[in-house]
Amino acid sequence: MAWSILRCDEVDSTNNVCKTLAAQGADNTAVIARRQTAGKGRLGRSFRSPEGGLYLSVLWRGCPTGQLLTVTPLAAVAVCHAIEQTCGAVCGIKWCNDVVLDGKKLCGILTESSLRPDGGAEWLVVGIGVNVAQTAFPPDIADMAASLAMQGYSVSPDALAEVLLEQLTAMRQALPHPQAWREEYRRRCVNLGRPVQVLRGDASRQAMALDVDQQFGLTVRYENGETETVRSGEVSVRGLYGYIE
Ligand code: BTN
Repeated sequence: MAWSILRCDEVDSTNNVCKTLAAQGADNTAVIARRQTAGKGRLGRSFRSPEGGLYLSVLWRGCPTGQLLTVTPLAAVAVCHAIEQTCGAVCGIKWCNDVVLDGKKLCGILTESSLRPDGGAEWLVVGIGVNVAQTAFPPDIADMAASLAMQGYSVSPDALAEVLLEQLTAMRQALPHPQAWREEYRRRCVNLGRPVQVLRGDASRQAMALDVDQQFGLTVRYENGETETVRSGEVSVRGLYGYIE
């Protein structure tokens, strides 16, 4: 399987471009931009996307129901592989899908889909934003964001994109039998064994992160001893003292 690649200098959002292409019937397509004017993050947030980052979305059709929840976590593993292969940085994953380096966020992933009546995806867009060559961040995110360059690693967005597309192909091949990738997700998950805050709406509860289950839910134990497996979408998880700690 080869990706048809569309490279752009500037778009509103590579996810939006993929969604437009999906509506026109495209399949196996990647959109890469040097900057985005309206980059989208999870939970309706925006994702700042200046030059120096890698903004890449891939689109494919026909993902079965059973694989849908697996795609985004495995994409985070694919990002870790691509970064390690191109510049040697060894990254972790902050549950649920942020790639982190030295305790700071390096990459976010936003997956969007059009679901069929049977619950599978008619099409799926996986959008990945990696901080590659930025040398500074705005004050409101400076404490929690990092770029590869700022952490001392040298690679160009184009070189990283090439390897990331190979890794995303490997990830798609792994989707029907994801056990090895799932294990790697667990090994890289920086939250396990650490205290976290589970944020649900305005409420926040302190817990210990224990494990990641088969569907990539995070099992936590609260201070009263009660355990719960929380799912992305219903909660977010923060460290107690910083972005991951
Ligand atoms: C997050 O951390 O909240 C997810 C951020 C996802 C950003 C990427 S950049 C490429 C693609 N296009 C977008 O508009 N968003 C994703």
